[in-house]
Amino acid sequence: MTQETIQSTLEEIRVFEPPKSKALFSSLHDWKLASDAFQKDFEGTWGNLAQQHLTWQKLFTQVLDERNPPFYRWFADGNINLSENCLDRHVNNGLGEQVAIIWEGEPGDVRRITYNELLAEVCLAANGLKSLGIKKGDRVIIYMPMIPEAAIAMLACARIGATHSVVFAAFSAQALHDRIEDTGAKAVITADGGWRRGAIHDLKSCVDVALTQGCNSVEHVLIVKRGHHDTNWQEDRDVDWVDLLKAQADVCEPTIIEAEHPLFILYTSGSTGKPKGIVHSTAGYLLWAHLTMQYSFDFKPESDVFWCTADVGWITGHSYSVYGPLCNGGTTLMYEGVPTYPDAGRIWKICQDHGVTVFYTAPTAIRALIKAGDDYPNAYDLSKLRVLGTVGEPINPEAWMWYHTVIGKERCPIVDTWWQTETGGHMLAPMPFSIPTKPGSATLPLPGIFAGIVDAEGEDVKDGGGLLVLKKPWPSMLRGVWGDEQRFIETYWEKFAHKGYYFAGDGARKDEDGYFWIMGRVDDVLNVSGHRLGTMEVESALVSHHAVAEAAVVGRSDDIKGESVFAFVVLKEPESEGLEAILRAHVSKEIGPIAKPDTIRFADNLPKTRSGKIMRRLLRDIAAGRDINSDISTLEDQSVIAQLQG
Ligand code: PRX
Repeated sequence: MTQETIQSTLEEIRVFEPPKSKALFSSLHDWKLASDAFQKDFEGTWGNLAQQHLTWQKLFTQVLDERNPPFYRWFADGNINLSENCLDRHVNNGLGEQVAIIWEGEPGDVRRITYNELLAEVCLAANGLKSLGIKKGDRVIIYMPMIPEAAIAMLACARIGATHSVVFAAFSAQALHDRIEDTGAKAVITADGGWRRGAIHDLKSCVDVALTQGCNSVEHVLIVKRGHHDTNWQEDRDVDWVDLLKAQADVCEPTIIEAEHPLFILYTSGSTGKPKGIVHSTAGYLLWAHLTMQYSFDFKPESDVFWCTADVGWITGHSYSVYGPLCNGGTTLMYEGVPTYPDAGRIWKICQDHGVTVFYTAPTAIRALIKAGDDYPNAYDLSKLRVLGTVGEPINPEAWMWYHTVIGKERCPIVDTWWQTETGGHMLAPMPFSIPTKPGSATLPLPGIFAGIVDAEGEDVKDGGGLLVLKKPWPSMLRGVWGDEQRFIETYWEKFAHKGYYFAGDGARKDEDGYFWIMGRVDDVLNVSGHRLGTMEVESALVSHHAVAEAAVVGRSDDIKGESVFAFVVLKEPESEGLEAILRAHVSKEIGPIAKPDTIRFADNLPKTRSGKIMRRLLRDIAAGRDINSDISTLEDQSVIAQLQG
């Protein structure tokens, strides 16, 4: 958490009333009614919603099974197929010609895919997967650019009950390798590349590298030819996506899937060890992805064009580029490339050209667009926009105000959504036509969510800051950490086991209106451009280089990225020419470009406490160029401070 964030949020006093609109929820009273229903009858309300909003293969008889906390189970004796909910039921309801996906490639090519077409494609892909021997319970890695086939692959897996794990396309071969090994995936679906900043970003060669050692579980690699360039084809392993689908029938009965069947695994960083594979269920996850589209965005499937700019490699892309909008039978927009390519007007041009009505992005993108100047958005017709969302990190009030005035023309409510990979969907967010907003606050819990701020003992904090917790289970909660039950318990549940609270890892405070203000992570997790990064992960990557003896990584506040990576490194031998650049490239190779340190500072030692712990607070002060607030009297080697200060 940065000092700057806390201060600016503490000073914020502006309040914006929600615009009047024919919305699904159009007053504070509506929010209260919806929330009260859960107070009065928690399980009954969830049960009714699940029955009303989803199409079941077999209806559940029990809503919540809490016999074995924290292993909660929702709708457990019901059966449901997610792809049937996102596709068949809309086609059966006469919506087959409605556009499901509008896709724009970076070079400007456009595809508009109807529900009829999407269903047929997903069936072809599902049959293709089956023909390769992939069946319910198998894991499939999806390592794709933002092209419709990424969504088709996800839905095809869901149709046959294969658990997918999407790996962000900018992650390195090493990161991909680790995820393949951890999931024991049977297949990898990838592309020969995708367009990024005017050039093809090759993915297939990364897969080849990832598979050179280990990864023995992988039997097939499926390749979508988007890049159309030569790849090192391996006949016994590689399968051309188009050839495979051509040979299939376009009808595929949805497999019977139990409500708790793992829909996907998505890796995210924590304060210790390698990234954790967060496991999500089918029914509970889908219900909340579906409902939050309505609660947080007032999503109207018949008239809205919804654009969530997140890549499918992140939870936001799962819930709000693909599953949420499609489960509602609406139109979702996907864009392949870099949002500022060929210039900073690209996003606004896409909004104009496709008539985007609900737009959802991250504060880091907003800050970058502010920097580019108002001429870009002002050059485009943004009059169709009606709701603007943000996610991923605290939004600074200045960025909020710019979004509100320059993009929303003071007409569109700003929906600041707080949630996590683990929560599956939004937890705190202003329902756009019900809840007054304050710049920088994610406002109030959505109906059904019981959030609180507590002290280290788990007691409610009345004034000042504390730890953000979720006090009751919710349907889209994570079901575990793949292959590591203990880590699931230790990370999220042990801290407040006596209360049964979920510990989110964020600090927050509540104001006099009960509004939540997120202050940032309380653990060693950085938030770089809205992406989570464990300091330890970057440290391990640095130490894996032969020249490095020891490394400590902290975050430094950054105008655009929110936080940037700042590394202190102790070398085994004297610093050689160009080593800083070499280490940066090394981290990029180990994890991905997001993790590259912006600054590396070399020193003979790292400052440690008597018990041998690295003094991170001191390092954070040094990185920020602030006065040192830590007690350094116990440091054996005081001269190291001067070295660290550079
Ligand atoms: O610290 C919070 C921050 O992002 C973390 C979750 O990261 P991840 O699992 O990658 O999911 C990001 C997209 C949901 C949280 O613990 N965060 C997310 N949204 C907000 C936020 N911080 C402040 N305000 C938000 N709206």
